[in-house]
Amino acid sequence: MVGIRWVANGFSGSTDLAAVPCTPADPGLGELRVRIRAAGVNPADLKHVLRAYDPALLPMPIGYEAVGDVTAVGPGTRAASGAVAVGDRIAAFRVHGAYAEEMTLPAEKAFVLPAAVPDDQAAGLLLAGTTAAEMLHRSGARRGDTVLLHGASGAVGAIVVQLAARAGVTVIGTAGIGTAGIGTAGPDRAAAVARFGGVPVAYGPGLADRVRDALIRIGVDGPPVAALDAAGTDEATAVSLDLVADRSRIITVADRRAAADHGFVALSGADAESAAFRDRMRGPLLELLADGSLTVPIAARIPLADAPAALDVVASGRAHGKIVLIP
Ligand SMILES: NC(=O)c1ccc[n+]([C@@H]2O[C@H](COP(=O)([O-])OP(=O)(O)OC[C@H]3O[C@@H](n4cnc5c(N)ncnc54)[C@H](OP(=O)(O)O)[C@@H]3O)[C@@H](O)[C@H]2O)c1
Repeated sequence: MVGIRWVANGFSGSTDLAAVPCTPADPGLGELRVRIRAAGVNPADLKHVLRAYDPALLPMPIGYEAVGDVTAVGPGTRAASGAVAVGDRIAAFRVHGAYAEEMTLPAEKAFVLPAAVPDDQAAGLLLAGTTAAEMLHRSGARRGDTVLLHGASGAVGAIVVQLAARAGVTVIGTAGIGTAGIGTAGPDRAAAVARFGGVPVAYGPGLADRVRDALIRIGVDGPPVAALDAAGTDEATAVSLDLVADRSRIITVADRRAAADHGFVALSGADAESAAFRDRMRGPLLELLADGSLTVPIAARIPLADAPAALDVVASGRAHGKIVLIP
């Protein structure tokens, strides 16, 4: 079948994206062909294009995660979750080119989904979820500890808050309380943090004092044991450095330069150790989603044809929940 997929033809931004005709290859050994039902939109989809620079990489396929129906299976092929057959519904991450109607992908990236899991939740879970799991893991936080989380109302943040609650770790989480977004998961950003057991505080001037007040209010004597940054602002860096002395417990996924300047930890899924950890977390996270222990707050389902506009909303930091593209 000839379908469309989105590619980047340049490095300037979403204006360089083009929908092009595409006929996915027949799957070879270790591959599946999949008709996409929903693709997750992540800030990384655009950031990685902006940082690519190398014309040899063009056209760059866009999109790292999707849910779809298997339409063909390569010879002797098993998914990451085990046996896989035509007609199975799978979630795939980390693939290249998920903004598409159909694609051929490595079966080791695919997990067969139980019927109860909604397409949009599974399509939006794995990039943010595996990142969240690694942030919490690297924080070293234990049951009874309290951590500060910048961007607790975002896609990554919402999953950190939920995994922390399961581990008995309290999260003081920043959110844009009083800001307007497009998502149905808003507009109450404080509620977006509190619904999963986090303690919301508004980001903006005076943040460090509001965090200290929140610590006193919830009966914590002393600073948070770690600061996690999924916002990437100068304010987040400054407040983390103000409140957490041990720089090995200040962890960002959103500002690598600040981490280098100040000697704290930056995580990237491109690093081999992080990639290996995150790959191990895919199955367990999907199990938590399937048994109802984890929720991906969905802000909007946007037609695949409007992918550039969806990316712009996500890049603005104002999505207020996960956006998924629907072919
Ligand atoms: N390194 C990695 O491996 C990795 C992996 C995944 C994501 N990331 C990065 O992590 C960040 C978050 O990703 P995401 O998918 O969670 O994005 P998202 O869903 O758009 O969430 C953005 C978060 O930032 C907050 N925010 C927006 N403006 C802010 C401001 N001025 N000050 C403080 N916080 C602000 C938002 O709060 P409100 O919605 O309440 O305004 C929200 O909590 C992005 O920079 C992304 O590129 C990195």
